[in-house]
Amino acid sequence: MQEKIDQYTAEINAFSPSNTDELEAFRIKFLGTKGIIKDLFEQFKSVGPEEKRVLGKVLNQFKQLAETSYNERKESFGPVSETQGSVLDLTLPGQGFNLGSRHPLSLTRNEIIDIFKRLGFVVAEGPEIEDDWHNFSALNFPQEHPARDMQDTFFVKKNNGGDDIALRTHTSSVQVRMMENGKPPFRAIMPGRVYRNEAISARAHCFFHQVEGLYVDENVSFADLKQTLYHFVQELYGEGTKVRFRPSYFPFTEPSAEMDISCTICGGSGCNMCKYTGWVEILGCGMVDPNVLENCHIDSKKYTGFAFGMGIERITNLKYVIKDLRLFSENDVRFLKQFQTEII
Ligand code: DAH
Repeated sequence: MQEKIDQYTAEINAFSPSNTDELEAFRIKFLGTKGIIKDLFEQFKSVGPEEKRVLGKVLNQFKQLAETSYNERKESFGPVSETQGSVLDLTLPGQGFNLGSRHPLSLTRNEIIDIFKRLGFVVAEGPEIEDDWHNFSALNFPQEHPARDMQDTFFVKKNNGGDDIALRTHTSSVQVRMMENGKPPFRAIMPGRVYRNEAISARAHCFFHQVEGLYVDENVSFADLKQTLYHFVQELYGEGTKVRFRPSYFPFTEPSAEMDISCTICGGSGCNMCKYTGWVEILGCGMVDPNVLENCHIDSKKYTGFAFGMGIERITNLKYVIKDLRLFSENDVRFLKQFQTEII
């Protein structure tokens, strides 16, 4: 046995594999489950006790030699992955998850919703494909009234030739749905996408987003409207932002107004965002026209209400100084990732 061991030792010491296949053959030959070492240990069981003491030590040393030789040679081929021989370094840092970011319009919409929720408003939604009644007639736009031209409408052709279906031009249609389907008081905001037949440019788009607001109850006054919107602006753009109301016209409100705020960029001293006036318009508003209440079966002698509507794009432009509307819908990651927010 000793002789054999000496012979194998010489073989092991001389072993110099030129590839991993040869190394593997070496492992199987000496260290495998049916290998030489296993065999030697089997034979060892039947030697006499005298011999065992000497041979045991020799055998163990031989086994160790085979193992270290194998490991050393293996290392000389470099770390090898189980599968394809590629380098696998488990100490390298992992690849981080690429977190997305919220769209700036979603950030603004969520902020608007949060502010009004704190004032007790609920959120309501309605369909983007609307009929003439909800988008126009119930809102006091008479047939053939020029006010309908204020909003260039995409009509949807029906199979039966009717043309009273359209993509909604504003979220005011949701007011009607809400009032038709419930009983006052109403206190809701209605965010959503709207469509207008406009050529796409830096300042106009064929679709954009609005938030509509509605408050109907007994004794609601224009003072309530002013106070609510004043509070909203302080929350959104910071304390000290000034507001002013200019008389205006909308078929569904009487009286109607447009609300301006002191320019958020220059603080009112004049810049190109406010066209050097110090003021920027952010929304339309007014007292709900009694005709609209009656169209929705609400007693206009008992109830009054205010409504307002704003464009989310406009509010966002002022917040982040974005001057081209097209950026919102082009999905350019270089633009979108500037709004990286913590996602919870
Ligand atoms: N619907 C109007 C628009 O799209 C915005 C608006 C103005 C909504 C006055 C209102 C309002 O509720 O009272 O231009």
